[in-house]
Amino acid sequence: MDEISRYAVGLDIGTSTVRAVVASVMKDGRLNVIGSAEVPNSGMRRGAVVNLAGPAQAIDKVLGEVERMGGYEINAATISINGSQILSTRTEGKIAAVTANHEINQEDLARLTDVALEGEIPANQEILDVVPLQYVLDGQAGIKDPLGMVALKIEMQANVVSTLVSTYDNLRKASESANVTPEGVVPSVVAAARAVLNERQMENGVAVVDIGASTTGIAIYEESDLQYVGVVPVGSNNITNDLAVMLAIDTEVAEEIKRRFATGSFGENEGSVVIRWRGKDLHFERDQIDEVVQARLDEILELVHKELKKARYEQRLPEGIVLTGGGARMRDIDKFVRMTLGMSVKIGASTGLSGLVEKIQKPEFSAAVGLMLTSAENEGRAAAPKKSRKKSGKKSADKGPGLLKKFFGKF
Ligand SMILES: Nc1ncnc2c1ncn2[C@@H]1O[C@H](COP(=O)(O)OP(=O)(O)OP(=O)(O)O)[C@@H](O)[C@H]1O
Ligand SMILES: [Mg+2]
Repeated sequence: MDEISRYAVGLDIGTSTVRAVVASVMKDGRLNVIGSAEVPNSGMRRGAVVNLAGPAQAIDKVLGEVERMGGYEINAATISINGSQILSTRTEGKIAAVTANHEINQEDLARLTDVALEGEIPANQEILDVVPLQYVLDGQAGIKDPLGMVALKIEMQANVVSTLVSTYDNLRKASESANVTPEGVVPSVVAAARAVLNERQMENGVAVVDIGASTTGIAIYEESDLQYVGVVPVGSNNITNDLAVMLAIDTEVAEEIKRRFATGSFGENEGSVVIRWRGKDLHFERDQIDEVVQARLDEILELVHKELKKARYEQRLPEGIVLTGGGARMRDIDKFVRMTLGMSVKIGASTGLSGLVEKIQKPEFSAAVGLMLTSAENEGRAAAPKKSRKKSGKKSADKGPGLLKKFFGKF
């Protein structure tokens, strides 16, 4: 039998839904997905926590579900962060070598990062990632890996991803209230990109657009590096709410209309549709639905275009756009995005994993899969939970003692 060395856990804390994906990591590094689950969330607004109890309960519930599937216990996970407070800042740092013929080492790179960050990132921002874009050695640009090279003057250009400290702290608190230690915190759109992009796309230039319930995230890659990340505070729930207001209907009916009848092929839909609700048939004109959906999609795409422009990538993405998130499920949305933004568009979902993958090969699971992949990469960290996950309510009845050992004992 294949030997399992540890488990990788991804936890996507979305505004509407919390999703978890668990995989076992074999001794040879191969992954096998052994569990996934999703539960509705509350207590979040536009990707950020506004009430600790809501996400804490949802996290507890979703992990309870995956734990039951596999008979293991989860104390740590790589979690997602979201919200328009997430920023990308370009910085530069410069240091001089201490002696001639000095070979660049990790310490130099750490010093260079410190210099690049100094005074650039406000104190109220939590740094999530520093992505070195290129090094310049004695004026020679375009160097990706300077370790071991010789230079007198070492410069670095980097993309710093950060968010508000309070947003970050509250997310961690919500996670810790559910007895999950966040071993890593990754912007949801970056996690989704990790799951749906291939190396060629990341090298040539591509943008992932994650259309969630109340946010739309944009992550741009080129030369295999994360060049830019931004989040706009509008998502697919805005379409539902617009339908509810404009058609004077309950949001439940509006959601059903959106899922069943909204498409990106505007102008091609004629006649009316019927929804059965509380024993009554409700009739809606398709052109009216189209009008409401198109207006909101236009707005979302205008904001996406603004982000692409801000990043100076609106006209140089050879691999186009990859759409993920639940909002990407709308029929023909890819056609509409291609027409509006003038770029090739694909719908992204994770592929190439083995195990229980059927449920997770959907756009809305991309972020959770990417978080699991990140957890798998960060070897060792998942193995060091700071405290035991306390059991609450029904979940504890399903497990016996010793399961914690089953989960973490092999690390
Ligand atoms: N089949 C479908 N057709 C159209 N929209 C859909 C469909 N399935 C889900 N959605 C929409 O996708 C949205 C939820 O997406 P997702 O689960 O990615 O969001 P989230 O991660 O909870 O939110 P956020 O990323 O904004 O924090 C909802 O607005 C939902 O109505
Ligand atoms: Mg999301």
